[in-house]
Amino acid sequence: MAGTSLNDMPSATACGCMGTSALLAGLLPRGIEVSELFADPPDVTSSLYPEEVDLVARAVEKRRREFAAVRMCARTAMARLGVPSAPSLPGEHRSPVWPDGIVGSMTHCDGYRAAAVARRSVVISIGVDAEPHDPLPDGVEEAVLLSEERDAALRLSERRPDTAWDRLIFSAKESVFKAWFPMTAQWLDFSECVVAPDPDRGTFTATLLVPGPVVAGERIQHFTGRWRTRGGIEQGHVATAVLVGIVDPSRAGRDPDPPLVRAAGKSHRQRGKRST
Ligand SMILES: CC(C)(COP(=O)(O)OP(=O)(O)OC[C@H]1O[C@@H](n2cnc3c(N)ncnc32)[C@H](O)[C@@H]1OP(=O)(O)O)[C@@H](O)C(=O)NCCC(=O)NCCS
Repeated sequence: MAGTSLNDMPSATACGCMGTSALLAGLLPRGIEVSELFADPPDVTSSLYPEEVDLVARAVEKRRREFAAVRMCARTAMARLGVPSAPSLPGEHRSPVWPDGIVGSMTHCDGYRAAAVARRSVVISIGVDAEPHDPLPDGVEEAVLLSEERDAALRLSERRPDTAWDRLIFSAKESVFKAWFPMTAQWLDFSECVVAPDPDRGTFTATLLVPGPVVAGERIQHFTGRWRTRGGIEQGHVATAVLVGIVDPSRAGRDPDPPLVRAAGKSHRQRGKRST
């Protein structure tokens, strides 16, 4: 397809558009609007629409706050695209439902919330993820990383001990899933994609080990992404972002005319993880 790799595009940071305090906001190219919060406004849950309040009415305070704060980010980012404020409700398998012509992704963890949105005429799918910049807890690595990813994390840690590479690869896989799911409505297991980070460029390539989605007649087997850390290990955050099928950032703001996206040729059923 006539798409550009994310690895080849300047980020806002590279353009000198962002301060060093940004995390995801400094990572993505023009045409993708990112809004992020490092602390919640005290009255954050009062920003929810009634339909959204209902969804988290029985949730714990922590969940209500992250749910509200990330939706605040989403509305801020969409306002920059000129999209009117509206409830942001979860759809199939908790995947966020965006207004017509908009694609996006949300993430939250302790001390960080972010949403990235764009017009579908600019990019076909977005996945963003942020994690605490800590090594994965004991026992988790084997469950979420393939052996070649564990080997890569070890090698990279020897060369660059300032980065929790196992957590970074895990985050990249979460970003891959968030970009993958809206295109396919199918589950993607941790064993079905291998992530290879480039420590010098701040990018990664995710190779799908199952048939990828078909976009404009071409099957996509590789997703490209970017990563960034803010703060040292056990202090800050690591964030990753995947953009699938960047069409043309210069079309930001124009009417959507999305290429046809056909579901990947997978047959096994999706499996749920958790519900709101
Ligand atoms: C869905 C998932 C990726 C979310 O990641 P997480 O680290 O638990 O949570 P984050 O805070 O980063 O992101 C949560 C947000 O992801 C979004 N999300 C949830 N399910 C989603 C889906 N199926 N597709 C796209 N986005 C989804 C939602 O906006 C959610 O926020 P909300 O519940 O407040 O609306 C994760 O729970 C999961 O199910 N992972 C297993 C699948 C996977 O990662 N496979 C790896 C393939 S290589």
